[in-house]
Amino acid sequence: MRYQKSNRLNDVCYDIRGPVLEAAERLEREGHRIIKLNIGNPAAFQLDAPDEIIVDVIANLRKGEGYSNSKGLFSARKAIFQRWQANGLGHIDINHIWLGNGVSELISLATSALLNHNDEVLIPAPDYPLWTAAVTLAGATPRHYQCNEDLGWEPNIEHIRSLINPNTKALVLINPNNPTGAVYSRECLIQIAELAKQHQLVVFADEIYDRIIYDDAEHIPFAQFAEQFLCLSFNGLSKSHRLAGFRSGWMVASGCVEEASDLIEGINMLASMRLCSNVPAQLAIQTALGGHQTIDDLVAPGGRLYEQRNRAYELLTAIEGISCVKAQAALYLFVKIDTNIYAVPDDEELVLQFLLQQHILLVQGSAFNVPEKHYLRFVFLPHIEDLVVAIERLETFLQQYKRHDY
Ligand SMILES: Cc1ncc(COP(=O)(O)O)c(C=O)c1O
Repeated sequence: MRYQKSNRLNDVCYDIRGPVLEAAERLEREGHRIIKLNIGNPAAFQLDAPDEIIVDVIANLRKGEGYSNSKGLFSARKAIFQRWQANGLGHIDINHIWLGNGVSELISLATSALLNHNDEVLIPAPDYPLWTAAVTLAGATPRHYQCNEDLGWEPNIEHIRSLINPNTKALVLINPNNPTGAVYSRECLIQIAELAKQHQLVVFADEIYDRIIYDDAEHIPFAQFAEQFLCLSFNGLSKSHRLAGFRSGWMVASGCVEEASDLIEGINMLASMRLCSNVPAQLAIQTALGGHQTIDDLVAPGGRLYEQRNRAYELLTAIEGISCVKAQAALYLFVKIDTNIYAVPDDEELVLQFLLQQHILLVQGSAFNVPEKHYLRFVFLPHIEDLVVAIERLETFLQQYKRHDY
């Protein structure tokens, strides 16, 4: 073939939007209605952003015509700074806050700024796969650490410890977690902080789901423990403010920033090279972070996300041979199929067949970098009526794989 992609992409894998999505798009072009449970896009399920944010962005849109400072608008960064203070997270420098086109852009930017060939980065399995892809694209090597399903998907500290070697440069923490919905305990975070301190790791703390918390789970920002190592915390408006399309996220450096001036120079350089992030989306941040947080109503009993999570969990786990840890946070259930009961094909083929037969799009567990091939990620954003339909169809679909002795 004449035009080939860069060799740098050879080992990069991002299957959330992979070949099965292409099949779904083909079916849609043929006129079929596909229930898309493949990505956490709240607005696609009538989970609208608060009117107040939209009204303020419209009123200020003219101010978004030009480039901003490459780190982002001062007013938006000040709002992030104040929220940081209000959360009791100690002193940070407003110059160590960068706005980006979603957390996604900042993940690429931060991994590119930090990593060299031969560096290794510890990433949870399962993970949000952009982390593995971005580390690979930056030329470094992802090393996946196990999270224990039996312990509510908490990271396995001993496994993390066993993977650390002189090349280990950083550790990714996704808390609350996508795809498992886990919220990590204080003990777990303290142990990870100890390892980071001992081995001088940079911790990338992806906390985009920090406000989407159910029942009495408590999210503890990792920056709280960042004293003698560098922590880069990531957050944004895509999920909690249902503004995924705006592409509005931020990154905050805390901990021993005084020893990170060279890295910060690199981050500033990459931020300047893309001039700035989308300015109209930056205009949403100040309003979004102040006042009543409408997400609180959605995750409280009676709120849509709370009720949808409960119903999806009850219905899925009522299917014979299906189990999952009840999500304490975020928008997903990571569902396990008992292969003693169902002789299922590998998970990618399974989601393809489910799509073709039942017109429902899920993502296979292996897209989240777990070695096992019998997990599926289920997004519980749709209204309960649609969740019921989707789960009924999953139950019907699985029957063809049932082993005869069951
Ligand atoms: C854990 C996690 N981090 C980052 C992102 C990307 O978010 P953004 O829309 O801000 O780019 C997602 C999106 O699903 C996510 O689940």
